[in-house]
Amino acid sequence: MSAPKEAWSSRLGVILAVAGSAVGLGNFLRFPGLAAQYGGGAFMVAYFISLLLIGIPICWTEWTLGRFGGRKGYHSTSGIFNALLKHPAAKYLGVIGFVVPVIIYMYYVYIEAWALGYALNALMGNLSIDGKDYTTFFANFTGAGSDGVAFKFGLRDVGIFVVIVYVVNFFFIYRGISKGIEMVCKVAMPALIFIAIVILVRVLTLGTPDPAKPDQNVLNGLAYMWNPGDVAAGLKNPQLWLAAAGQIFFSLSVGFGVIITYASYLRKQDDVVLSGLTATAANEFCEVGLGGLITVPAAFVFLGAAGIVGQGTFGLGFNVLPQVFASMPAGHLFASIFFVLLFIAAVTSSLSMLQPGIAFLEEGLGIERKASVALLGLMTAVGTMFVWYFSKDLKALDTMDFWVGTVMLFVQATILVIIFGWGLGIKRGFEIAHEGAEMRIPNIFGIIIKYITPTYLVTIFVMFLLQNVFGWNYSFSDPVFQPTGYVEDIIGDNPSHVARITVCFIAIITTFALVFVNIAGRRWTTNPPTAQDD
Ligand code: ALA
Repeated sequence: MSAPKEAWSSRLGVILAVAGSAVGLGNFLRFPGLAAQYGGGAFMVAYFISLLLIGIPICWTEWTLGRFGGRKGYHSTSGIFNALLKHPAAKYLGVIGFVVPVIIYMYYVYIEAWALGYALNALMGNLSIDGKDYTTFFANFTGAGSDGVAFKFGLRDVGIFVVIVYVVNFFFIYRGISKGIEMVCKVAMPALIFIAIVILVRVLTLGTPDPAKPDQNVLNGLAYMWNPGDVAAGLKNPQLWLAAAGQIFFSLSVGFGVIITYASYLRKQDDVVLSGLTATAANEFCEVGLGGLITVPAAFVFLGAAGIVGQGTFGLGFNVLPQVFASMPAGHLFASIFFVLLFIAAVTSSLSMLQPGIAFLEEGLGIERKASVALLGLMTAVGTMFVWYFSKDLKALDTMDFWVGTVMLFVQATILVIIFGWGLGIKRGFEIAHEGAEMRIPNIFGIIIKYITPTYLVTIFVMFLLQNVFGWNYSFSDPVFQPTGYVEDIIGDNPSHVARITVCFIAIITTFALVFVNIAGRRWTTNPPTAQDD
């Protein structure tokens, strides 16, 4: 390989970069939305079990496989599987490591643009027409009202913000690992935590803003979010387990193909065990400690439980919260600061979604950074325009999030953990993980990674398919089979054309990626990358 080797410049840098990838819209929008929807306590039990049984084990798996691949000179999931498994088919398994981050980026960046646009429009007091209706601005700005309407470029439109986030992201990704991603995360992560703490203090000191409604106070808001309620009944709901596991994947960026690529830029003897755990802990602090204490309690204090129920993730963040902030002194400012927080969190995550694609194009096609950045920029821009155009009810975005941001994530995570536990083997895997490690992985994780994580993943995935593909209502006494939601959209009697086109789009990108992998495979046979020698 002619290009100079890239690497992280410091240990803190790589931990902040992985934490930056993890901390994102998932922490401040998705997590509070799900916890509120599934009633706090029971969701948190399933959430922490998923963290222990899938989040942490797969995180260590990705860090270890990534550093191993980096030593052999590979940085993409395909390349790493190729080096590790030494089987001609292995590289094709790694294709999801390209497709997942690239497609998630296409829609994630669109939401990132909303956050930036909302930060400015909140400050200008544009989010509502009459102080009550926040949904009209949302529908026009995001295009949720109808297809094509969001293709405008005024300050009250999303267009200009999409352009800005593209320029920002591709500027930093072009600068590379240490001068781009690492530098941004070193500044952004402390800034993000500082801003979140400012907002948190504001929320926790809200007291009882409306004396006529004494029940709507901060303590009851926290109780609404955190009180266990009927945990046993909640845990009987399979949908809650799916949501909790899905949130762990999304939030930690595990199964994305991101951590494996980031870890491939570590040096030979860099620690992976403690670093992986530290990045995970940082994400959990931001998610549970910050994200979990801001959105829902704030909404409860001003709107009560009725204002929260059924809002959904975007409703809570983009419709309810602006209304809540508007009821506070200096509300425009706090609303704007909240959306700046979302924007910063999203930038560090979206950068991480670009790097696996860049790494793959560079090492697979043998092209230089400039060319790979240009090619990936073009591909992702087409995808973002697709989501931006087919915006009615956020259908394209939602469809991609289901098939790629949920289904493919499960598949990739399962492949990773099976390769580690069964392909490499726990003994060899732990030996590699422990090289240069500052702590040992507790032995119990050997059993967890080999048996429990794959079983847990497959069980959840089967439940997921049963519900969404076969439409089973989980009732044994009165079973109903009727494909629901996303599957019904594709094969039902009244299909959604946008959902169908979106699935075709995903298939086209995957096909292109497979062709790239084929080209890469030939290249790796005749001209393998140079292994790390430091
Ligand atoms: N992990 C990122 C998030 O939480 C994708 O938003």
